[in-house]
Amino acid sequence: MINNKLPKIWYGGDYNPEQWDAEIWKEDERLFKLAGIDVATVNVFSWALNQPDEETYDFSLLDETIDRLYKSGVYACLATSTAAHPAWMARKYPDVLRVDYNGRKRKFGGRHNSCPNSPTYRKYSALMAEKLAERYKNHSGLVIWHISNEYGGYCYCDNCAAGFRQWLEKRYGNLEALNKAWNTRFWGHTFYDWEDIVPPNALSEEWDGNRTAFQGISLDYRRFMSDSLLECYKLEYEAVKKHTPDLPVTTNLMGFFPDLDYFEWAKYIDIVSWDNYPALDTPVSYTAMAHDLMRGLKGGDPFMLMEQTPSQQNWQAYNSLKRPGVMRLWSYQAVAHGADTVMFFQLRRSIGACEKYHGAVIEHVGHEHTRVFRECAELGRELEQLGDKLLDARTESKVAIVYDWENRWATELSSGPTIALNYVNEVHKYYDALFQMNIESDIISVEADMSRYDIVIAPVMYMIKPGFAQKVEQFVANGGTFVTTFFSGIVNENDLVTTGGYPGELRSLLGIWAEEIDALFPDQKNSIVMKRPWGKLQGQFECGLLCDLIHAEGAEVLAEYGTDFYAGMPVLTMNHFGKGRAYYVASSPEVKFLQGFLANLCAEKGIEPLLDAPAGVETARRVKNDKEYLFLLNHNADAAAVEIGAEARQELLSGEMLSGAVTVPGRGVFILERSRK
Ligand code: GLA
Ligand code: ZN
Repeated sequence: MINNKLPKIWYGGDYNPEQWDAEIWKEDERLFKLAGIDVATVNVFSWALNQPDEETYDFSLLDETIDRLYKSGVYACLATSTAAHPAWMARKYPDVLRVDYNGRKRKFGGRHNSCPNSPTYRKYSALMAEKLAERYKNHSGLVIWHISNEYGGYCYCDNCAAGFRQWLEKRYGNLEALNKAWNTRFWGHTFYDWEDIVPPNALSEEWDGNRTAFQGISLDYRRFMSDSLLECYKLEYEAVKKHTPDLPVTTNLMGFFPDLDYFEWAKYIDIVSWDNYPALDTPVSYTAMAHDLMRGLKGGDPFMLMEQTPSQQNWQAYNSLKRPGVMRLWSYQAVAHGADTVMFFQLRRSIGACEKYHGAVIEHVGHEHTRVFRECAELGRELEQLGDKLLDARTESKVAIVYDWENRWATELSSGPTIALNYVNEVHKYYDALFQMNIESDIISVEADMSRYDIVIAPVMYMIKPGFAQKVEQFVANGGTFVTTFFSGIVNENDLVTTGGYPGELRSLLGIWAEEIDALFPDQKNSIVMKRPWGKLQGQFECGLLCDLIHAEGAEVLAEYGTDFYAGMPVLTMNHFGKGRAYYVASSPEVKFLQGFLANLCAEKGIEPLLDAPAGVETARRVKNDKEYLFLLNHNADAAAVEIGAEARQELLSGEMLSGAVTVPGRGVFILERSRK
């Protein structure tokens, strides 16, 4: 449980009373009660208020807020306020200001704006965290710390450059090793002095934000920036832990956000939390996958849904309203995938600045008679009624998909073979195929223990880090099924090609050699021609993006390319390795192929769908002790008929006992409980 003071699914969100006059606060209390809100994230952007100048600290408003909320039954998720520095700090200590990608020194403005290697920022952010912890350590209203807010963005200032050089010295020891790792004899970039190394941005090695002349330096800069921001987080973490060792600590993450290696971050986070902002047209399986990634960061531990909008965003191009029922549906989707909280940005809609058109529980009209408020209050009642039933429940999937931030950076930084390769999309294709078949999967890191899975899929495993190939070999030798794809096994952790034939370190496991890689234009296709029918997989399927031209070296060829000069070369292979099998998919296939292929692999392993549900009805399962909770989430606007089997199960939201054919209303949710066999 996140905190046993609040033994239910937490319900609430960001609350900024400092933007309002005192007479509104009373009204807030009344409305929070009506909506069933029991937690408020406070103090997220109050640094300037808490510290009006370098010497003065003033927590009077925060004291009042936390007391007032606590008295009215609302706990505080207490933020440390360090995500935007005060104006006086920027004026007095310009080292807090970032230098941007184009080399421009920023002035005061915006947020998430501090240089992570600024001595001033590090000193005063840690001090702020410490002061808050000292002040509120005995306050019964606190349930969790929320460090800063949505860490992200890079800086390229001189302090960062100096920090980078130190970081590099630690990593490589000497310049000779660094020159080797970055392959600097290319274009005569050999470094003879650490001082010659400058951050890679538009002034030096990079262009377009993610293209680079030297993958080595660009990759290391991303690692360094992720570490630098993590360092800032850790300073605050340690400051609050010193005074409140038992209070959990989080910082709100952002799903597949590219800047930070969240698997690394999660090692220092007590409970993962994240902000979920899908658009009206975001595939529901993409959101599901992001939840699963967040759950995967700490090996399947429940996480917090820290932010979502009750209705609309302000920062998308077209900020659609969440249709009636959708806020509730998406809230339960988070819970189904492992969230133990449902929280919003924000509780009351602001009247000025860029978020005034962002949805909130309390809208500008100020009262409870709105569609959004009614829906929020209804959900509040339901969460109350669910009590602690689902808390700490876990998932038990037998299929895992590998995701790796450094692999993403490396694939995206590479010049060639195609600009169209999007690593996350390729991962999503595999996730989505399983999702559409109602087969659960976990998203795991390259460091994760694979032994609890039957199938591990690593799409586009371009970068092979030390030990990974051996780990996969072990997994397969012991009977596991491993799948990887085109453009895998190409480079080591420094983006240096593994010579001797692709897929490098994975070559003997897969029993193939990829001789060449063809890049296809967006409208150019090849085909996957099955050599013989395999389950539902028969005939031919479309593929594109990249085509590896492979030779079988012991692997069995299951399908061949249909066209072009490499027609007849293998495109799908299977290699027996120890007790298991290793598959290679040499191109990016159409969905129908992936569903048939993955269905076959699951069938071989006896992995069954959670249910046979119609299209648009998502299924997910959490388990706890001897109970299983099966979620049916109908993303369709219309009702859907689902056969749930003969055994009667209680539907937790209505209390009804259900069996056989049931009808889930449009955008409706069922949570079916049963005892496990
Ligand atoms: C982020 C931030 C919030 C707010 C919302 C708006 O998630 O953390 O402060 O700006 O976006 O969607
Ligand atoms: Zn900097």
